[in-house]
Amino acid sequence: MKNEMIIVLDFGGQYNQLIARRVRECNVYCEVKPYTMSLDEIKALNPKGIIFTGGPNSVYDETSPRYQKEIFDLGIPILGICYGSQLMAHTLGGRVETAPVSEYGHTEVTVDPSDVLFEGVSENTVCWMSHTDYIAQVPEGFKITAHTPVCPVAAMSCPEQKLYATQFHPEVMHTKEGMKMLANFVHNVCGCAGDWKMDSFVETTIQSLREKIGSGKVLCALSGGVDSSVAAVLLSKAVGKQLTCVFVDHGLLRKNEGDEVEAVFGPDGPYELNFIRVNAQQRYYSKLKGVTDPETKRKIIGEEFIRVFEEEAKKIGSVDFLVQGTIYPDVIESGLGKSAVIKSHHNVGGLPDVVDFKEIVEPLRMLFKDEVRKAGLELGMPEYLVYRQPFPGPGLGVRIVGEVTEEKVRIVQDADYIYREELHKAGVDKDLGQYFAALTNMRSVGVMGDFRTYDYAIALRAVLTSDFMTAEAAQIPWEVLAKVTNRIVNEVKGVNRVLYDCTGKPPATIEFE
Ligand code: XMP
Repeated sequence: MKNEMIIVLDFGGQYNQLIARRVRECNVYCEVKPYTMSLDEIKALNPKGIIFTGGPNSVYDETSPRYQKEIFDLGIPILGICYGSQLMAHTLGGRVETAPVSEYGHTEVTVDPSDVLFEGVSENTVCWMSHTDYIAQVPEGFKITAHTPVCPVAAMSCPEQKLYATQFHPEVMHTKEGMKMLANFVHNVCGCAGDWKMDSFVETTIQSLREKIGSGKVLCALSGGVDSSVAAVLLSKAVGKQLTCVFVDHGLLRKNEGDEVEAVFGPDGPYELNFIRVNAQQRYYSKLKGVTDPETKRKIIGEEFIRVFEEEAKKIGSVDFLVQGTIYPDVIESGLGKSAVIKSHHNVGGLPDVVDFKEIVEPLRMLFKDEVRKAGLELGMPEYLVYRQPFPGPGLGVRIVGEVTEEKVRIVQDADYIYREELHKAGVDKDLGQYFAALTNMRSVGVMGDFRTYDYAIALRAVLTSDFMTAEAAQIPWEVLAKVTNRIVNEVKGVNRVLYDCTGKPPATIEFE
């Protein structure tokens, strides 16, 4: 029974699903709904609270997404975040303007701890800001409850009407006490008891997959990454040999990875399924020849994957279900809903056109990466597989800047192997969200023995992240970096420099393309 529910009204922000997830972490059921949902539809859901998300627009822009004023008269508590806060201010008669100074990233905010939203929060706390507009004047009846040196209204509230708003993003982990603020809203403003618990994902998913699939034939594109591996194991547990997994080795995998995937999912592995490995390395290299634009590379890799898969699918014939290991961040970042497209993801879309199937199955669509891992463990998958580095569909294609060649693939594979090995030996790998070596397209002068070299620079990347939507650069001990550098320049031909990437996400992405 979903007796208590919070609605996240989606105005096109990047972190909308994250907000929903944070609310679910407070043990309150939560769903994201489009801002086009009518007032009657909202009333019918009888939510205990509503959260307006951020979004890329300016409220004073005629075409920007709005909501009718009457929503504020329902008596339902509302929390506006970023664009949502500006929308609240604008709609209720406050003033929103372009800020003289936009704020971006970690920002010190002074809050009023007597406001319900900030109960238990330190008076000076760090929040994540990302805005170019700001609230210049709050609507009548509102008080300012937080500010920064350049943002006069970092938060406002009107407790009588149960309306709250923050310019910053409490849902991202960079907002140190954001979870406290959301919990305050959910429990103390909306009055939710927090008695909702997510059912065991694995159990219910296997059960519902069985019901859905019956005796049908299932086809899965297995990449060897955590997502598609967990999806494959879920399906294998649900329907066994009715499942066929096609693994395309596109020549952009990490060192030895093709064989490792085969060892786990192939006939000698522990799972019951049909496994087909396609060695398509050379096809990919020739398609990628001369291509330097990152989006074009992604598209080529994605399209070629579809071609290869199509050929295999033809051999298999018609299937009933096609499995995809799509997870939540893929869905959001591929620009579903109204969010701006960050980059086209390899594993969303495409395949359905070329495979003769009845329905698509995406068992992980609602999960974030760490939840996928939890599901993997619950499935009894070995830890080395579950905690394997997340690896993007386009593989090393997104870790080689500029043209992809077989030679560059060899360089980045070898450097990455050394990096991973040394981090593991030093025992620092388990604390990291994701880490890898990338090949910059930069060559520079070096000296080796008596000779001048003109070789590539390898970039090392390591980030801390819990949800892969945001991340910060990890501080790897200097001795470890020195050791890795030394080994790479000595052991990997074609490299004479090693750089460390200190950038977080945003403004960078985790991958390096
Ligand atoms: P970015 O680089 O967007 O990465 O910050 C966030 C997470 O997504 C992974 N990633 C992908 N995964 N297909 C995938 O399956 C893709 O096309 C893709 N691009 C990025 C990335 O490795 C990181 O974990």
